[in-house]
Amino acid sequence: MSFDLIVRGGTLPDGSVADIGISGERIAAVEPRLEAAAGRVVDAQGALVSPPFVDPHFHMDATLSYGIPRINRSGTLLEGIALWGELKPLLTREAVRDRALAYCDWAVSMGLLAIRTHVDTCDDRLLAVDALLEVKKQVSPYLDLQLVAFPQDGYYRSAGARENTIRALDKGVDIVGGIPHFERTMDDGRRSVTELCEIAARRGLMVDMHCDETDDPLSRHIEQLAFEARRLGLQNRVAGSHLTSMHSMDNYYVSKLLPLISEAGVSAIPNPLINIVIQGRHDTYPKRRGMTRVPEMIRAGIRVGFGQDCVLDPWYPLGTADMLDVAFMGLHVAQMTSPAEMAHCFDIVTSVNAAIMGLDHFGLTAGKVASLVVLDAADPVEAIRLRADRLCVVARGKVVAERERLVTRLSIDGRPPTVSRRRPRHLPS
Ligand code: FE2
Repeated sequence: MSFDLIVRGGTLPDGSVADIGISGERIAAVEPRLEAAAGRVVDAQGALVSPPFVDPHFHMDATLSYGIPRINRSGTLLEGIALWGELKPLLTREAVRDRALAYCDWAVSMGLLAIRTHVDTCDDRLLAVDALLEVKKQVSPYLDLQLVAFPQDGYYRSAGARENTIRALDKGVDIVGGIPHFERTMDDGRRSVTELCEIAARRGLMVDMHCDETDDPLSRHIEQLAFEARRLGLQNRVAGSHLTSMHSMDNYYVSKLLPLISEAGVSAIPNPLINIVIQGRHDTYPKRRGMTRVPEMIRAGIRVGFGQDCVLDPWYPLGTADMLDVAFMGLHVAQMTSPAEMAHCFDIVTSVNAAIMGLDHFGLTAGKVASLVVLDAADPVEAIRLRADRLCVVARGKVVAERERLVTRLSIDGRPPTVSRRRPRHLPS
């Protein structure tokens, strides 16, 4: 027996140690020790081997545009949307494509091998849609890209958005999006949820809606989204992104809302890095945290992912395509610090996010697509603590990124010559 590639001796997220034998694009065997020849062996001893990172919420048409034509001075969502409106007329298909491809390279280097990106459909030219459809095709050998038709300026509020959103779906955009809290009235928002879910049901598509991305305790479009998911038989095919208003809602109302979301099979996708900097901007002190109720939703049986949302764009001046940054921030803001909760935050940015996107081909078992990441960490919690280096990334059976272990050389007399960010030498193992 022989394999094209063996990833040797890595620690899997469940703590077991195994060799992973890969033939072509698939994992052929996962066993404690594979005695077989291989075209190539990756030594993963002492490292964590994980399924790839997955980002279920991103804006690839805006990424890497920070500062064009200016920065967001207030830091608010509304100024970000206004700024994006100033940038839109300046966009070219080539510029959007090139920035998206540059981001995809960062993503691959970080072991991020599947991304769901929203793409603005409030532009008669639909050039961002065309650019990202081109990017999706180009990166498909190594990165799964899902596109969401997103009427950024409002499905009813923006002239032409309804027609353009349908045109984008006709062009091959995968998922129906929306932004009910940005419509002119609560009632317009409610109606947009209904109409967009009906479009998805007719076309057999998934729904992923920006929903209640405000600090308004009375913004309750998630209730309508859950209602429509159930009414239209869209269970497990609908996600509500952000849901930040839930942070500020009345506790009694939330106690009624959580079971409704759970029964409707609606997933939640908070975006911790962005929610924590965008929300609460109208508060003095105490200042609200602006992230939805993650542990409470998980306890209610709701599938909760974490998204990156933005990197270097009108809404966020930082970001590195690192889903461990996202898990790190999510863990802190949601106060998920028990060992089980921290480990779950790693699962969120890998397997839970993949489940939300409907990607059942990822996983470290025989028969799954051979996409995985080798991390310079002993276990998932250490990976989050360190935002661990990606030593090797394998996509569909091919090594697509590699780096050396990072150690710092000390020049302090009488001290060990090197130090790593892993477990300190003087502590018992
Ligand atoms: Fe977003």
